[in-house]
Amino acid sequence: MKKIKVGIVGLGRLGKKHAENIAFRVPGAELMAACSIITEEVEWVRRNWGIKYGYTNFYDMLQNKELDAIVIASSSGEHCKQIEAALDAGFHVFCEKPLGISIEECKTAEKAVEKHPAKVFMLGFMRRYDPSYAYAKQKIDEGYIGEPYIIKATSIDPESAIQGVLKYAASSGGIFMDMAVHDIDLIRWYFGDIELDSVYASGRGFLHKEFEKYEDGDNACAMMTFKDGYIAMLHAGRTAPHGYHIETEIIGTKGTLRIGAIPEKNLVSIFNEDGMLKECVSGFLERFEQAYRLEMEEFINCIIEGRKPDITVYDGTKATEIAHAATRSFKEKKLITLR
Ligand SMILES: NC(=O)c1ccc[n+]([C@@H]2O[C@H](COP(=O)([O-])OP(=O)(O)OC[C@H]3O[C@@H](n4cnc5c(N)ncnc54)[C@H](O)[C@@H]3O)[C@@H](O)[C@H]2O)c1
Repeated sequence: MKKIKVGIVGLGRLGKKHAENIAFRVPGAELMAACSIITEEVEWVRRNWGIKYGYTNFYDMLQNKELDAIVIASSSGEHCKQIEAALDAGFHVFCEKPLGISIEECKTAEKAVEKHPAKVFMLGFMRRYDPSYAYAKQKIDEGYIGEPYIIKATSIDPESAIQGVLKYAASSGGIFMDMAVHDIDLIRWYFGDIELDSVYASGRGFLHKEFEKYEDGDNACAMMTFKDGYIAMLHAGRTAPHGYHIETEIIGTKGTLRIGAIPEKNLVSIFNEDGMLKECVSGFLERFEQAYRLEMEEFINCIIEGRKPDITVYDGTKATEIAHAATRSFKEKKLITLR
């Protein structure tokens, strides 16, 4: 079977993981090219993984007609223009979240996807491919908890990663765009493409005042009301002392589902002079390792089988719109009503 030849842009924290998965763990895919503005990153993957082509300019990579698909894991502000250029150059495209930081950018991406209906476009809302989140969706669809009407979501990055977050704080789009988009996408997925009515958000730099100069915070909460009164409560944070804390609760008319209620690393319990200890997962690469591989498999299989993934470019725009409304509420300190 002919392998799908992939070029990746972005070899940072997540891009390197995607590159490794494509090179070694996704059947049907071959990592043929890698691009980053950081020359050493490109040289590293070429030297260590034997990748055929390396680029420091994204548009040079698009000239390579041996490639079939482009995976975009560059900084968020680059996504939409790179999506448009890659689709126009004739490639299938996978792009990391968020689709774009501004709604205008997202609309550009939507137009590009609509212009190339024969190409596969997929967005990296990988939590939908995490076995536990996918199982929860299946249980909801099978009616196990009746009709879901409240979702409580907690996503807290480890304090140990704070310096990296601060480095990109000026261009991340803020805590709701950078972090909570995953929860926002899950809310839309579990409630079923529902429209936001209003949002009130609040937060600040509790441990790291530096975020406040970007009108951002290290912890923030949002209370969202959707069509027909459905409710979502979000806590996004960057300062968990214990590890990477991702937890979701979905309350329905006949029951409740909890995913990751305790963010356990594994089944080991440590008993010592401090009592009984369960360690936590350390970060997104550990917690969502399977999801990153499975979403990439889905992208490649969609190309091979000539079908489209469930996640659309419009899901990306919707998540950005909701994250924007939350960010506006956070900055303006008032309830934002959309409809
Ligand atoms: N799905 C998830 O769980 C998840 C987790 C982390 C990051 N992300 C997203 O992935 C993207 C990358 O995040 P990261 O943490 O890996 O960032 P990073 O800063 O560690 O890496 C960014 C990479 O992109 C490259 N790059 C930036 N602009 C470029 C350009 N114009 N041309 C070529 N290369 C360019 C950099 O050289 C670097 O290799 C972001 O959009 C982020 O929101 C998603």
